[in-house]
Amino acid sequence: MCGIVGYIGTQAASEILLAGLEKLEYRGYDSAGLATISEGQITCVRAKGKLHNLREKLAEIDSPAPIGIGHTRWATHGKPEEYNAHPHLDNSGRIAVVQNGIVENYRDLRKELKAKGHKFVSDTDTEVIPHLIAEFFAEVKKEKEEEKEKKAEKIADLSFLEVVSQVVNRLEGAFAIAVICADFPDEIIVARQQAPLVIGFGAGEFFCASDTPALVSHTRTVLSLENGELARLTPMGVEVYSFTGERLKKSPRILGWSPVLVEKQGFKHFMHKEIYEQPAVVRACLEAYLDSEWQPGNPHSPINLNLPKELCADVEQISILACGTSWHASLIGKYLLEQLANIPTAVQYASEYRYAPAPLTANNLTIGVTQSGETADTLAALGMEQQRRAGFTDKFRARMLGITNRTESSIAHMMPHVINTHAGIEIGVAATKTFVTQLMAFYFLALDLAHQRQTISTERLAEIITGLRQLPAEIEKFLEIQEQYVEELSHQFTDTQDFIFLGRGINFPIALEGALKLKEISYIHAEGYPAGEMKHGPIALLDAKVPVVAIAMPGSVYEKVLSNAQEAKARDARLIGVTPKQGVAEAEIFDHVLPVPLVDELLSPIVTVIPLQLLAYHIAARRGLDVDQPRNLAKSVTVE
Ligand code: G6P
Repeated sequence: MCGIVGYIGTQAASEILLAGLEKLEYRGYDSAGLATISEGQITCVRAKGKLHNLREKLAEIDSPAPIGIGHTRWATHGKPEEYNAHPHLDNSGRIAVVQNGIVENYRDLRKELKAKGHKFVSDTDTEVIPHLIAEFFAEVKKEKEEEKEKKAEKIADLSFLEVVSQVVNRLEGAFAIAVICADFPDEIIVARQQAPLVIGFGAGEFFCASDTPALVSHTRTVLSLENGELARLTPMGVEVYSFTGERLKKSPRILGWSPVLVEKQGFKHFMHKEIYEQPAVVRACLEAYLDSEWQPGNPHSPINLNLPKELCADVEQISILACGTSWHASLIGKYLLEQLANIPTAVQYASEYRYAPAPLTANNLTIGVTQSGETADTLAALGMEQQRRAGFTDKFRARMLGITNRTESSIAHMMPHVINTHAGIEIGVAATKTFVTQLMAFYFLALDLAHQRQTISTERLAEIITGLRQLPAEIEKFLEIQEQYVEELSHQFTDTQDFIFLGRGINFPIALEGALKLKEISYIHAEGYPAGEMKHGPIALLDAKVPVVAIAMPGSVYEKVLSNAQEAKARDARLIGVTPKQGVAEAEIFDHVLPVPLVDELLSPIVTVIPLQLLAYHIAARRGLDVDQPRNLAKSVTVE
């Protein structure tokens, strides 16, 4: 996990690195650190906690060093203490390393290095890397001296890059690293093995980072390293090599989005801003995938996902792999694919699937859903699926699809086909707009398949398309009219300890998502439950102290949900209804109503999730918590 940055050029590195780390704090924020080189020495400064602690420490040091690396950490191996913060150094203090990922064989390496006299000062896996580099340099030096004694004519001198490439070949696991050495003050060596690393190109200055937001205020010309690649950054340019030492020819690309997207633009928190961006991103999805000219009665599909027809032509079963909020979106995807396109669909937690995969059946389509495109569990499960398909026909191997918000991410490189969710960069750790656009991707996929397979009538298709087109305006209206009410209501729940969220049918996953949002950012215990299952156990939890949020949208399960809500009310629970303001029934049952627009039940998750995002947001903000960077979490979890 974690975020890494690097800078080499003509300006003072520290400020550039700090600004880059700020943009990567969503990846982890337990501790942070920088290492720079000036006057032949490495200066390493680290601090526990958020970045401002490091900033304060650095304010005392005015360093003009034009080269450096930085790190913001999400603790895996070792507590979030300063001694475990990156960068990590070798014993001479001349080599500094930052890492995002895990070196899985670090115990063996540490033992081997300790036996050779290396002293370790942290509990991290990363610390073996600078020591291994130092060990390789020592071996080279020794060989050189022996050769000299033998008076050999030519003594091979290994370069910094060659030494680091020897070292990465000894590391097992998923990692991205950046390394500097005081003996090579004009070089940063970076390497990637299953953890993201992108290089930025400026004029006479070069950058590296775990993700593009750290680069966009300097350059939009970037190059993403692939697995098994190393690069040497100098003030003169960038050279890319394979781990086997082969020089590679690669061309940078230009990023399409603007740095403005990574600013708060007047909102107090990114999450709040991102909730407000939802009408715009839903619109962006409609523009990208829906034929604006399409009219009911047109024989062709109104949807164009740019996927080859044969990808889904005779698909008999779909497996979806995802984690967290993406898993919730996938549950709604399952509902849509089964109910609209009539295709049996299974949704699995990627972290579970890898160790208990379902038998592979012919005509199966596997879909990986990950907003970041970098979640290690999801990538590992998809990697396993790819291997299981090796040896089968090309058509079967190509039956894999990624749904992601980051088209430059690992999943996009890995999958033969990708649906871009067009949400723009999301910084708040709690996913909001990316969730809604994942739902849009599933609506389009399910409707397109339903059209191809003729499992939907023309009238129903037209009805849903009309409803989809109206969504941005409906969300806008809701935000404009209801936000203040949600905020006021949230004041009543700042000291609440437990919440229950109920939903049924297509809104059951929204109950899960509402509960997850609250847990993630307000640290209030919350459970999402299928409303009809309450009576089979969890109803025992209810009393006057436990508020119950019930999602009751007119449609197939409306009356049933209202009955389930009544059952909770009879146990003294305070009831909050997420329901259109229609009549007396709701007013009588619910203590509070969050009145959502009346939309087609099938499309309702897009509107019912919004008050739940706002409720979680305002409760957390009212509790004075760090909404965008909740404790213990990170947005992109690149460890399994
Ligand atoms: C982390 C985040 C969650 C997110 C999950 C999956 O746990 O904190 O908000 O839902 O990863 O992320 P992905 O990028 O794969 O959608």
